[in-house]
Amino acid sequence: MKVLVTAGPTREFLDPVRFLSNRSTGRMGFAVAECARCRGHETVLISGPVSLDFPEGVRAVRVVSALDMLEAVRSELSCGCDAVVMTAAVADWRPEVRAERKLKKEESPPVLKMVRNPDILVETAGLRRGCVCVGFAAETDHVMESAVRKLEKKELDMIVANDVTRPGAGFEVDTNIVTFITASGEEQLPLMTKAAVAGRILDFIERRRRERFGC
Ligand code: CTP
Repeated sequence: MKVLVTAGPTREFLDPVRFLSNRSTGRMGFAVAECARCRGHETVLISGPVSLDFPEGVRAVRVVSALDMLEAVRSELSCGCDAVVMTAAVADWRPEVRAERKLKKEESPPVLKMVRNPDILVETAGLRRGCVCVGFAAETDHVMESAVRKLEKKELDMIVANDVTRPGAGFEVDTNIVTFITASGEEQLPLMTKAAVAGRILDFIERRRRERFGC
């Protein structure tokens, strides 16, 4: 099986030295890629800028912005994939204009006009047909309602909801507290390592493939 994983944050530059980004470290996605590789799956890991080493045996694709990530995901999906796990914390907006030179502090502070980035899962829905698709929902409030909405809107087989405000979950930690949500129900998992969550995600994907294709 070929598994495509996205990870990390994206960076949206306003000038050659400054960018807007988020707290994602890439750990969850790297754990999924490592687990997929250990189970013998061909694994491609598309990651925004992170300080982690790519797991051995995984094909690494490094990107910077959301637009770069969209292009990389499109290109991988066009070559065919069996499963997609989108853990990346893709920036939802980017500055409308990226200055060509460094903005100087003597000038008035920049007033940023932001524009929407494309939603990678929505944009690639057509290319993902036939793949088992898992997304993540990083939430601070109305966790389950938001996650269920994303499951449907983004046409996923499963969404992994996590409340990033809980200690031991979300950003910059090796553990997570997640709920798996599918069209047929939800399963709340206890606090576990990101490696263990990755294993459960791979279990789901492998089971869904067997149900769908008998392999
Ligand atoms: N995602 C994506 N493209 C984006 C933003 C998010 O493909 N531009 C993916 C993420 O990788 C994740 C899922 O969509 O698998 C949900 O991401 P999340 O940040 O929780 O939700 P958003 O759709 O960005 O909505 P909001 O930020 O308003 O909660």
